[in-house]
Amino acid sequence: MSTPSLRSHNWFGKKDLDGFSHRSWIKAEGFSDLMFDGRPVIGIANSWSELTNCNAHLRQVAEAVKIPVVAAGGIADGRGWVAAFALGAEGVQMGTRFLATEECPIPAAYKQAILEAADNTTMIAARRGYPIRVLKNKAALAVRRMDESGASQDEINAYVDAMAKGAGDDWENKLMSAGQIAGGIRKVLTVGELIRSMVA
Ligand SMILES: Cc1cc2nc3c(=O)[nH]c(=O)nc-3n(C[C@H](O)[C@H](O)[C@H](O)COP(=O)(O)O)c2cc1C
Repeated sequence: MSTPSLRSHNWFGKKDLDGFSHRSWIKAEGFSDLMFDGRPVIGIANSWSELTNCNAHLRQVAEAVKIPVVAAGGIADGRGWVAAFALGAEGVQMGTRFLATEECPIPAAYKQAILEAADNTTMIAARRGYPIRVLKNKAALAVRRMDESGASQDEINAYVDAMAKGAGDDWENKLMSAGQIAGGIRKVLTVGELIRSMVA
């Protein structure tokens, strides 16, 4: 059986301009060439399950590994950050919260959809091929139906592209990635305001 290539190798090991940039960023932070000898550089532990779709496993992961754990998912403010640290994380990564910032270059309608989201407004569009959590809309439900009826990932991708092309300003027909924390985001902030509100 062939050994699958590591994600970190795809990121840092490539001989092209992308690989060069990724290595340069890490080296600029003071890491040595040892980082690039083919060893795994980062581990992603997806502690999500259908039954426990939140951070209940974070403390077990933090207790089980020696390297720092960066918690991701469902963190949008200082309270989430402190909670993640209390469970053993040493850093947090935020996605959805940054979508609703002034500086984020997504369309205003996408930001507005996040502000209007409730805690049950997101769904995992396709579960078999490439599961992504998105805001629930016509596009997401159509992708879910395709996925359940056995469509391939290529067919789903082609459908999503075609739908988005003809959609114009109609955001019901475009997929909008967002985490469950969208339901807790009420205001578009500047990145500065967001960070200051978290560390204050
Ligand atoms: C616009 C956007 C694109 C994303 N793309 C990916 C992706 O390609 N692969 C992936 O594993 N997760 C993706 N995610 C999920 C992020 O990894 C997730 O948001 C992150 O774990 C932080 O969770 P949070 O959004 O609740 O803060 C995406 C999230 C957003 C908001």
